[in-house]
Amino acid sequence: MALSRRNLISISAAALAAGALAACSDERGGDTADPAPADGTTGAAPADGETTPTGGEAGGLIGIAMPTKSLERWNRDGAHLEGLLKEMGYETSLQYADNKQDQQNNQIQNMINDGAKVVVIASIDGTAMGPILQTAADAGVKVFAYDRLINGTENVDYYATFDNYKVGQLQGQYILDHMDDYKNDDGSINLEPFAGSPDDNNVRYFFGGAWDLLGPEVEKGTFTVPSGKAPADSDGWASIGIQGWASSGAQSEMENRINSFYGDGKKVNIVLSPNDSLALGIQQALEGAGYTPGEDWPLLTGQDADLANVQAMVQGKQTMDVWKDTRMLGEQVAKMVDQLVKGEEVETNDTETYDNGVKVVPSFLIDPVVVTMDNIEEQLVESGFYTAEDIGL
Ligand code: BGC
Repeated sequence: MALSRRNLISISAAALAAGALAACSDERGGDTADPAPADGTTGAAPADGETTPTGGEAGGLIGIAMPTKSLERWNRDGAHLEGLLKEMGYETSLQYADNKQDQQNNQIQNMINDGAKVVVIASIDGTAMGPILQTAADAGVKVFAYDRLINGTENVDYYATFDNYKVGQLQGQYILDHMDDYKNDDGSINLEPFAGSPDDNNVRYFFGGAWDLLGPEVEKGTFTVPSGKAPADSDGWASIGIQGWASSGAQSEMENRINSFYGDGKKVNIVLSPNDSLALGIQQALEGAGYTPGEDWPLLTGQDADLANVQAMVQGKQTMDVWKDTRMLGEQVAKMVDQLVKGEEVETNDTETYDNGVKVVPSFLIDPVVVTMDNIEEQLVESGFYTAEDIGL
């Protein structure tokens, strides 16, 4: 049974209960105490350390809590948002939490102590923030969920993200539109689906968007899933989730599937990878198993347009990417933070989709974009996201 977008509730006990397939993580240390950047951009707390209520002039401290430095996109997100807020006259405290929610909660506590007016949070486990956000609310600090929704608390004021369901839809639709090019001689198509980290609220939307399109085709027999790792419905994603979005976890899972289910010349034809860090691990596994770009390399999806993946696309190892221009998200969030601080109406464009289990969080959704070799130059180079040289064009 495929679930509609509106049925994708935001708190899933299944997600919490289900074990992830791979426990290993690519996290390297070093996220912990984020030192002031070399350019001295991290702002200081107000001298009196007191919380300033919102409503009034721009200025004051804004906390930016990012999940990890180990994924390229969060480094870009953090630096960009920090730069925009500083240009608007705010001080900032930008912190990365090594993918550990406890660490992020401590960082948010420090931001509250330092008198932040607003904290912008890309959470790690969005279900484990209730107490710290109560502290924020008690201190009059406004809370923005950035990219990932924060669940189970009324103390989240706004949410800004890319349309996560659409990210999955774009991946699923791309697969449907191009599957014929990847058919085996007997007409069969072997598909292997992956899902992201079970503690990330976005995962159900990514997977739901793709699986609402692909699941019915698996049922009809258009695709076969030799590993058997095909969730019965869009809610079954947690059983194939890769903990921490780790490349290494995706690599070992793909290696296991190839070794166990692809004997006798059977080929993987299509891999649904929800994001780029997983796609990198899957590429390693395919390479290790002797797949060759341009010959028997499968259709492989991704998300984020991370540099390594865009380079891989140029080399024929990744077929498509869903690009989320993080500059747009940063600009939107900076604008909303500024509106909130000034007591103006905060711009949202969706007040229905993102129910965090306690309330529907007013949201701003931005459209993601499909990038392939056909439009890579126009989308990623002409927009100034990368140079042609960066990506090996
Ligand atoms: C983000 C993706 C990212 C993933 C891993 C998700 O919440 O939306 O852009 O690839 O986390 O960091």
